[in-house]
Amino acid sequence: MANARRISVGLQPQPVSETSPPPPPPLSSPSPSPAAAAVSSVAVFLKRPSAFPLLLSVFVLLTWVFLRLEHPASAGLRSSLSSGLSSSSSRSGTGPVDGADSDANLVRFSAVEFPSKIARDWRGWLMDPVTDARAARLRGRASKCASVHVGQIQPGGLRGNHRHHTCNETFIIWGADTKFRLENPNVKDKGYAEVTIRYDEVALATSPSGTAHAIINVDRVRSTFLLGCQDSLIKTNASTTDYNVWKDL
Ligand SMILES: *[C@@H]1O[C@H](CO)[C@@H](O)[C@H](O)[C@H]1NC(C)=O
Ligand SMILES: *[C@@H]1O[C@H](CO)[C@@H](O)[C@H](O)[C@H]1NC(C)=O
Repeated sequence: MANARRISVGLQPQPVSETSPPPPPPLSSPSPSPAAAAVSSVAVFLKRPSAFPLLLSVFVLLTWVFLRLEHPASAGLRSSLSSGLSSSSSRSGTGPVDGADSDANLVRFSAVEFPSKIARDWRGWLMDPVTDARAARLRGRASKCASVHVGQIQPGGLRGNHRHHTCNETFIIWGADTKFRLENPNVKDKGYAEVTIRYDEVALATSPSGTAHAIINVDRVRSTFLLGCQDSLIKTNASTTDYNVWKDL
């Protein structure tokens, strides 16, 4: 009985009786540096079980602050890293053999900066192939999407290299370093314009009816994604479409 009582006394006081003595730090502080004393008293306090709720709430608060700030902060960083609006149709591509975007019926936008013509805020970009192609005055665009294709091109893959005779087509292309080739008799010797879309750009391009086009993923790791909007429902067979137009692809 006495033992049990002693034990319970021995256990309970820990938080109370031993808590109050530790304020000794203030006692010993005068002589050395007050800062060191403060640090050591905080350290002593933090080692106590009674400090756990405080530590936990500080941790929760920091987590909340981090989550609140994370998206805007990272997006803001990205936008400050990239340069101004890059939606000019006259800008040419990145490779040495690249033609002018205008010869490829293409305009490009940054996929990461905001606000921009295609991104109002940090959530990212959003496009309408019909209205945005009209706004960009791209010739041979689809005036409506009677047929829509959405898909992926793996690194090294190719789509297109064909010529539809019964539809105009508007493309949105993004996600990887990608070449877009468009038949264009005005381009000397080659007869086509070819530009490279960077992985951090979104391209809006058109291929008028009777014009060949090809989309090639030249990225090592990323997938190209594309949307194709055609203004008429076509059966893609030999009478509506010429296949394998360019032999070098
Ligand atoms: C394609 O665009 C041209 C020019 O805007 C238009 O005359 C034609 O009707 C459109 N559709 C097809 C299927 O050619
Ligand atoms: C191709 O499809 C069209 C309809 O879009 C049809 O009239 C034509 O016969 C088809 N041609 C072949 C070779 O299948």
